[in-house]
Amino acid sequence: MKKTMILAVTAMLMTPVAAMAERDGATVYNTKCLACHMTGAAGAPKVGMADQWAPRAAKGMDALLATAKSGVGAMPPMGTCMDCTDGEMTAAIQHMLDNSK
Ligand code: HEC
Repeated sequence: MKKTMILAVTAMLMTPVAAMAERDGATVYNTKCLACHMTGAAGAPKVGMADQWAPRAAKGMDALLATAKSGVGAMPPMGTCMDCTDGEMTAAIQHMLDNSK
């Protein structure tokens, strides 16, 4: 929770305009990421499966954000959220990590 706040504040400082309309992690996840990450479709790490997320989480948020933006394997760039800001992507990833412990 604390970490999410820090990330959100950092994102606000970096993008003051976009931050005004930022969707939170749960909203982005529920609308854009859930289709694959809830079911494990196409080999996506499933939310709630700590063992599937632990090795990815170990890479750190910067690395996860970078791969999520570029796409990886069967995951399309930005996880299909083409209009997501870095802050929104980070919040969505954090939401998945928080729910996969
Ligand atoms: C079309 C299906 C699909 C959607 C939609 C999707 N993902 Fe993924 N995601 C995947 C798959 C498949 C992988 C595993 C790819 C691999 O490691 O080969 C993955 C992996 C990841 C990873 C781990 C990356 C790493 O470095 O190990 C993150 C973080 C992630 N997704 C975030 C997101 C976010 C955030 C969204 C929504 C904005 C999203 N994904 C939407 C399919 C999807």
